[in-house]
Amino acid sequence: MAAGSQVLIVGPGALGLLFGHAFHRAGARVFFVGRQGREERHIGTLYDPEGRRHRFPLRFLSPEQAQAQAWDAVWVTVKTYSLQAVVPWVARVSSPEVVFPQNGIGFEGDLQQRLAGFVRAVTSEGATRTGRFTVQHRGRGQTFLGGRGLVSTRLLQQAGLAAEERPDLRPIVLAKLLANVAINPLTALLRVPNGTLRQNPHLWTLVQQIVAETVPVLRRHGYPFGPEEALRFVEEIVVRTAQNRSSMLQDLEAGRPLELDFLTGWLLRQAPGALPTVQTLHHLLLVLTAPAPSPPAKED
Ligand SMILES: NC(=O)c1ccc[n+]([C@@H]2O[C@H](COP(=O)([O-])OP(=O)(O)OC[C@H]3O[C@@H](n4cnc5c(N)ncnc54)[C@H](OP(=O)(O)O)[C@@H]3O)[C@@H](O)[C@H]2O)c1
Repeated sequence: MAAGSQVLIVGPGALGLLFGHAFHRAGARVFFVGRQGREERHIGTLYDPEGRRHRFPLRFLSPEQAQAQAWDAVWVTVKTYSLQAVVPWVARVSSPEVVFPQNGIGFEGDLQQRLAGFVRAVTSEGATRTGRFTVQHRGRGQTFLGGRGLVSTRLLQQAGLAAEERPDLRPIVLAKLLANVAINPLTALLRVPNGTLRQNPHLWTLVQQIVAETVPVLRRHGYPFGPEEALRFVEEIVVRTAQNRSSMLQDLEAGRPLELDFLTGWLLRQAPGALPTVQTLHHLLLVLTAPAPSPPAKED
C-alpha cells in the first residue's frame, strides 16, 4: 500500500515542498532534511493553482536520523549544483527508490553508480517558493519517472498529480533539456517572460538558432525529432507559458547561482565549438553571475 509509506525529501525548496505536500495528501508519512541538517518541526503552506491554501506538517531530521531508518522512497530535490553536498550521505540511506527530478543532464552516471535505487524523474509541474516554507503551485504539469511499479508514482497519482512511468526516460530528459536551453538563458539575460521570445522576431530568430544548433547534439544521444518538430515543440511551450518567468530568470533576479553546468554547459562539453549561439549565452550568463571583483588595493 502506498498510503502509510515513509517518504524522505532532501531539499525543502519549491519542488520539495510541492511533492512533500502531495505525498502527505496521499497518506504518506513525510520527513525532510534541509540545509540546516537538524531536527525541527514547522508548518508548510501550499497555494494551489486555484489559489486555495493548504497547510501540512514539516518534520525535519538530520542526515544521521534519516540514515537510521528505512524509507519507501527518497526524493532529492536540491539544485544540481548542490547534489555533490548531499549525495555522499544520501548514498547511505536505505530505500529502494531514490528519485532525482533535476532539470538538465549529465549528472546521472555518477549517481547510478553510487545509489542502488537511483530513479530519474522529469517534471513540468511549476512551483515557486514565496516564503521559507511556503510554495506556490504555479501550474499543473506532468511527472515522468524512469522505472516500474514505483511507490512514488502511486502516491503522486493518489494526490491528484499526473504521474507516469517510462522505462526509458532519455527522450523526455532530452526534450526538457531542449526547452530549457531554448527558453531559460534568453529570458534570463533579457529579463522577459517566456512569451516575449515568440512576440519579438529578433528573439525568435535566436531561439531558432539555438534549436538548430542543439538538435544535432541531442539526436546523437537519442532525441528522436528533427529541427522543425523540435522548434514546434519549443514554440508550443513558449506560447502555453507566455506569462511565466523562467526558473533561470527567477534565480538570476534572486541572486541565486544558475543551473548552467548541466544545461548549456553539458551541450558545450558534447560539441565544443559547434554551438556558437548557446556558447555566447552561456558565457554572458557566467559574466552576469560572476562575483564582483574585489577593489584594487590602495597604494600608500
Ligand atoms: N521549481 C520548479 O518548478 C521545478 C520544476 C522542474 C524541475 N525543477 C528542478 O528541481 C530542482 C530543485 O528546484 P527548486 O526550484 O525546488 O529549487 P529550490 O527552491 O532552490 O530548492 C532547493 C532546496 O534544496 C535545499 N538545499 C540546498 N543544499 C542543501 C543541502 N546540502 N542539504 C539539504 N538541502 C539543501 C535548499 O535549501 P535553502 O532553502 O537553504 O536554500 C532548498 O530548500 C532543480 O534542479 C530544478 O531545476 C524545479
